[in-house]
This record gives sequence, C-alpha cells and structure tokens, in this order.
Amino acid sequence: MDVTLPPRHAPLVGDDVRVPVLGGGSRRYVDLDAAATSSASAAVTRAVTDFLPWYSSVHRGAGAKSRYSSARYEQARDTLLRFAGADPATHVALFPRNTTEALNQLAYRLRLAPDDVVLTTAVEHHANLLPWRRHAKLRVVDVDARGTFDVGDVVRALHQRPTPRVLAVTGASNVTGWLPDLLALTSAARALGVFVVVDAAQLAGHRPVDMTALGIDALALSGHKMYAPFGAGALIAPRSVLADGEPFLVGGGTVRAVSFDDVVWADTPDRDDAGSPNVVGAVALAAAAEELAESGWSGLLAHEEALTRALDAELATVPGLRRYGAVTGDRLPVAAFNLDGVPHGLLAARLAGEHGIGLRSGCFCAHPYMARLLSLTEAEVAQFHADVRVGDRHALPGAVRASANRATTPADVAALGEALRQIAATPEEARHYELDDHGDFVLRAPVLF
Ligand code: ALA
Repeated sequence: MDVTLPPRHAPLVGDDVRVPVLGGGSRRYVDLDAAATSSASAAVTRAVTDFLPWYSSVHRGAGAKSRYSSARYEQARDTLLRFAGADPATHVALFPRNTTEALNQLAYRLRLAPDDVVLTTAVEHHANLLPWRRHAKLRVVDVDARGTFDVGDVVRALHQRPTPRVLAVTGASNVTGWLPDLLALTSAARALGVFVVVDAAQLAGHRPVDMTALGIDALALSGHKMYAPFGAGALIAPRSVLADGEPFLVGGGTVRAVSFDDVVWADTPDRDDAGSPNVVGAVALAAAAEELAESGWSGLLAHEEALTRALDAELATVPGLRRYGAVTGDRLPVAAFNLDGVPHGLLAARLAGEHGIGLRSGCFCAHPYMARLLSLTEAEVAQFHADVRVGDRHALPGAVRASANRATTPADVAALGEALRQIAATPEEARHYELDDHGDFVLRAPVLF
C-alpha cells in the first residue's frame, strides 16, 4: 500500500478493547463503524464525569444543583449555535435524541400542508425522507450510477412548479461519504426563498459547518456520531419557525399555564422541550462540539483525507471487490462494497468473527439510495419489500460498509485489507457460519467473551 498516513489523530475511550475471535484468543477490536456510532472522546467522558455530581433537574428546582444544571443546559445551547455558525439572535438549539428525532420535530414544526413540496435527494438516509413524506409531497432529485447528483439537477427541480417549501439535503452520505456542494445548493434554494434544511448527521463530526456562511436555515446532527454517545443530538432552527404552533411533543415544561380546556404555550426553546431533558447528553454534546471546534480541524481533515486514500488503495487490492459510489473527489472516509460470491451479511460476520473488525452490512437506513447503487430493478425492489413483509430476510440486497474517524489508524485500514484478501481466498471458512432465524449470519459455535 503506497500511502503514508499520520498516526491516530486522537484516541477514543475503548480503542484498546480486545474481542474473542474464531479459533481462540482475542484481537484488538477494529472499529470501522464510525458512520453508525462513534465511541466517546476522553474530553466528553471527562465533561460527563465532572458534571455528574452536579446533575439535577433543569429549570424546575430552586436548589444550587438545579440552578447549575440549568445553566449548563443553556450554555450547551450556546455552544451548539457557535459550533454550527448559527446566529443566536435568530436561531435556537434544541436537544432531540438524534438526527431522526430532530428532523421529525422540524418537519412537524414547519406546519407543512399536504400539498407542499419538499425537495430532497436519492442520497438521503431514511431520517431525511420519512419525516418529510409524512407531512408533505416529496420531489426527489435522482442520482447517477456513481451515486451522485449535479447541482444543475437540483436547480431544475427547484424551478419546477409548485416551488418547494423546503430543500432537505444531506451534508454527507452515510453510505459513500460523498459530500454534495452545499453552498451551491443552498444558494440556489435561497434565491427562490426555499427553506434549507441540512442533515448533518455524518458531516458534523468530520467537517466544520457554518450555517450563516452557507445559508442553511435549519440543521440536524447526532451526538452519537461525533464522540458524544450520551443520547443527545441537536436541531438548530430559526426562532421564527418555532414561535407559533404546538410543539412536536406536548407535556411538562412546554407551557405557561394549563387547564382542562386551555393551554398557554411557553416560548421556544421551552415550548419544544417536553419533559425532563437529557441534560447529561447536552453537556456531553457541547463538550464534543467544543473539542472539535478547538481542534482547529486541519489535523483532523488531513488525517481523514489520508484515511480515505488509504481505504481506496487497500480496497483496490482485494480480488473480486466491488465498490459503490464515486471513488474520486473530496469524501469522508467511508466505503461501501461487496465481495464476489459472498453475501454481505456473511462478509460482515466473517470480518467480525475471524478478524475482530466491526462494521455494518445491509442497506444502512438508506434503502432508496442503495437500490440505485446496487442497480436494483423495480422488480427486485418489489421482491425485497415482499420478502420483508412476510418476515423473510434471508436474501436481502445490501453491501458492507467500512467507515472511519479520527481514532482510526493506518493499521486498522491495513487490517481490513488483509482480512478481506484472506476471506476472498478462503471461501470454505464460511462453514463456520449459519443464518439465524432473523436472517443474520452468526457463528455456528459462538466465540466466548
Ligand atoms: N445510523 C445509520 C448509519 O449507520 C444511518 O449510517
């Protein structure tokens, strides 16, 4: 492999965990599932540990701990606004559980009419499709065989009638790591007065985002993909959108007064914060955002760019490996692929069972995009749906995805390449695996922890 990588950019809690492997013994766990979940950073863990003695009810207690917790919670909002380059005079940060909840909340709060059009793209994961489909009509910009679209395609779709109310687009693909040209997209949308929503689930932990400079109206992100796996994400939205209307979740904290037949809603953010909030999650998320912002980004960007090139180089050496999506240009260190003759679930199981490599297989909560990348026909998609409708998951389409982050090392990428070459050369070792009742490949004789 002719690629020089810098050493691990920054370690995470659990980097040294060892896992049992087939044949006995253990190996250091190689985490190549960063696009799904990242481990906690040391700074986040420290922030949580330091905060826990002070953890108390937010906005509802007179005690010192309660006042301190409330202050930390509000500080976390400010930190997230700064992190995302949002203007505190016009925007507010809310703390839903994750990007999915954030986009559900936003789609509800935008008070879309059933005939309103939301323009989105075939690249999106389900969180940026289903909430919009529930409330409005989708207009979808399709992708080419490389899994990308042109800005011109989006511009044309923006100019179709009726003019969309919303453009909802991802900042980075969770399947291919592709980075759409956000500035070009937001500029085109804003020229028509279209509200711009960016799903930053994948982007936020890897690239700086400046909502003001990019002209993004609302942004959603997940703590568990940016080193703060404590159950909080963020929705950053204009105060004006949240000024009127019922909140997505109703209950304590959202109101000024309630009787059996009347309710006086509080102003946002309280209106949009039903029940006792996840203050520990918010503190963790703020610590992660601060750490990323203070890192200055350049070291992380260089590290991840080198990882992307290393992944490309390593995967290119594996016989019978087929990559999906564009393998050129600026991308996150994410790669989706299949190995000839090996079901994707079996490949993932073998990487875990024999090599201690953790990654994800299937369609990555992005079924329409995967259907395009895998060139599924309409009949094949219909069969997929028919199969799962009756609970048959034994032959589902999909791929394997390797995804890296700041803690991934050159050795991790090399280990993946080595493992894939070995698996390609030893098809007979598949005898150690079987399909379970859920349609997942598992070891016939499980290795013991
Ligand atoms: N969390 C999903 C993933 O693994 C979408 O990419």
